[in-house]
Amino acid sequence: MSDVRRTDEIQGEILHEYDGIEEADNRLPNWWLATFYGAILFGVGYWFYYHEFQVEPTTSEAYAAAAAASTEADVAEESELLALVGDASAITSGRETFATTCAACHGDRGQGVIGPNLTDGAWLHGGDPVSIYSAIRNGITSDRARIAGSAGMPGWGGQLGETRTRAVTAFLLSIRDTNEQGGRDAEGDAYAPAGAAEATEAAEQTDATEETEPAEETEPAGEGEEAEPEAGGADEAEAAEGDTEATGEQDEAAPDEG
Ligand code: HEC
Repeated sequence: MSDVRRTDEIQGEILHEYDGIEEADNRLPNWWLATFYGAILFGVGYWFYYHEFQVEPTTSEAYAAAAAASTEADVAEESELLALVGDASAITSGRETFATTCAACHGDRGQGVIGPNLTDGAWLHGGDPVSIYSAIRNGITSDRARIAGSAGMPGWGGQLGETRTRAVTAFLLSIRDTNEQGGRDAEGDAYAPAGAAEATEAAEQTDATEETEPAEETEPAGEGEEAEPEAGGADEAEAAEGDTEATGEQDEAAPDEG
């Protein structure tokens, strides 16, 4: 390092020299300084605005809020879905989606293959517009599947997006109760859209097949009652069963006599 300072034509005053490498210290250009100090001021301002005083939500907070709002918006209203049934372009789009995505399991006419018939008056997971929409959008988990041996159905909402999910729901609403044959028989609970007299007839027919339903529901309660007296009451239970059998026989006997 030499103490001799010289002024270079291009670099200006040379302050240091190390092994022949010369270093000058020039004033930085104003545009550069403005950016530098500006960034510091911006950072301080930003910190107080968003984090100290929380004047506005940060972008990530705003994003989370918007995402939450859009999830809520995805839950369709019955009136919105029914309105779409009258929208020809929605029905066309729904028909296309059905042909490409659903027909493999539900049949080209919705008559049912491994998935249930979607054109009858019986529904496994509810026949009202919002239940149908929800079955399509969220799918049916295997523990909720009602067809014996069925693994349920994946949810289609993510793949199709909201608009096409609603459109295919509208398409199904447009073909319900058309009773396409050649697929699966009616399965599930009868559902009649309000004001459809024809549909109630179809619903009554399926009622007969549904009588096992309430029995399933009462089963757990029956088990609970039996469990308690088990300690000393097994004989009593048997006796009670014997009684009902006896009365049953008497009842049967009565019409024969008369
Ligand atoms: C991989 C086969 C498969 C595909 C593809 C499929 N589903 Fe399903 N779907 C099923 C099965 C199986 C069930 C019945 C599940 C159960 O309860 O056992 C079902 C049930 C349904 C239900 C409820 C029916 C009721 O009776 O409550 C609707 C609605 C439905 N699917 C619509 C659709 C739509 C719309 C598509 C196309 C976007 C589609 N499915 C694609 C297999 C499928």
